[in-house]
Amino acid sequence: MKILVTGGAGYIGSHTVVLLIEAGYEVIVFDNFYNASKESIRRVEKIINQSIEVIEGDLRNRDDLKSVFEKHTISSVIHFAGLKAVGESVEKPLKYYDNNVNGSAVLCEVMAEYDCKSIIFSSSATVYGDPHTTPILEDFPLFATNPYGRSKLMVEEILRDVYVSDNTWKIILLRYFNPVGAHESGTIGEDPNGIPNNLMPFIAQTAVGKREYLSVFGDDYDTKDGTGVRDYIHVVDLAKGHVNALDRIENFKEVMTVNLGTGKGYSVLEMIRAFEKASNKKVAYKIAQRRAGDIATCFADPSYAKEVLDWKAEKSIDQMCEDGWRWQSQNPNGYKGIV
Ligand code: NAD
Ligand code: UFG
Repeated sequence: MKILVTGGAGYIGSHTVVLLIEAGYEVIVFDNFYNASKESIRRVEKIINQSIEVIEGDLRNRDDLKSVFEKHTISSVIHFAGLKAVGESVEKPLKYYDNNVNGSAVLCEVMAEYDCKSIIFSSSATVYGDPHTTPILEDFPLFATNPYGRSKLMVEEILRDVYVSDNTWKIILLRYFNPVGAHESGTIGEDPNGIPNNLMPFIAQTAVGKREYLSVFGDDYDTKDGTGVRDYIHVVDLAKGHVNALDRIENFKEVMTVNLGTGKGYSVLEMIRAFEKASNKKVAYKIAQRRAGDIATCFADPSYAKEVLDWKAEKSIDQMCEDGWRWQSQNPNGYKGIV
């Protein structure tokens, strides 16, 4: 079965491509390399010891997408391609709506034209806004607090409407919590541009000496130690969730919406300590102001994923930090500088 992976050169996409191929799927990667390096594909090819067909193109360009479907009979699409920087989305909302929302709509149109009606979409825990309680269940109220989050909610709604209009579609919406870590080989991982927005890459860059210290955004939240609590999930566990979803997609008779998280919450200070243990390096930090838009606590109730996808996150916080450190220490500049 040929699976089209949009955004397959990116962080989560590249890890998922490895697992898909290991599970016996044939994979075509579609990416415009806006936030990815071709080196990630070369590294994936090394891990799986085979070459991957990569089509360079943009979601919003119908002809780029058509060229994929003309050449290959695609049975399902795993749709990772999108922009994900929350802060940038506030400054440039139209860029986000165009890329993430319009891009997804064009993708669905072209899929339907070629009678490919099976899609797994990368949604996010951000669609729960500031949840009234935790752990978070899939039927909690939805509320986005920034254009990035709204773009995810809009695509969820678009896909639900697509299903209402034609219930032969097979649609799974996967809501990720906080993906971290890297493939155990240490050869692929997260490679943020510039100063990282997210906690784990910032901690990793501090440990490796690229950043002087980490700013801990607030220590006065109503949490175990006052710092923000999140559900960090190993990217390989997350990738496995996609393989399980794909294995089952044909059996589902409605749009499936599933949380992919571990069900456990760790604070910023706990993450710093876990990373120090894994790396044997000191992570200098200073307590700073709260970051606008942040919430105190966010973690999943992952029981529905177990029930419908037979999936459960398996890797511990120590493994997340060890694998993240292996990637960071072996590739202090990520994929940059490699031609
Ligand atoms: P990423 O930026 O590493 O990967 C996204 C990929 O999509 C990149 O390779 C980029 O070049 C490509 N892309 C972007 N716009 C495109 C377009 N118009 N046409 C073709 N390719 C395009 O991000 P990631 O962390 O791997 O995230 C994958 C998906 O998961 C995204 O949709 C993201 O919003 C979602 N998600 C990520 C997180 C997270 O914390 N990483 C959390 C929840 C949801
Ligand atoms: N944090 C710091 N210092 C930093 C970065 C983060 O203290 O330099 C703290 C934050 O305040 C928060 C925690 O670390 O308490 C996690 O922050 P991240 O930025 O790593 O993750 P978020 O939970 O804020 O958001 C991430 C993605 C969103 C996504 C969401 C849920 O950035 O796009 O997870 O999946 F929607």
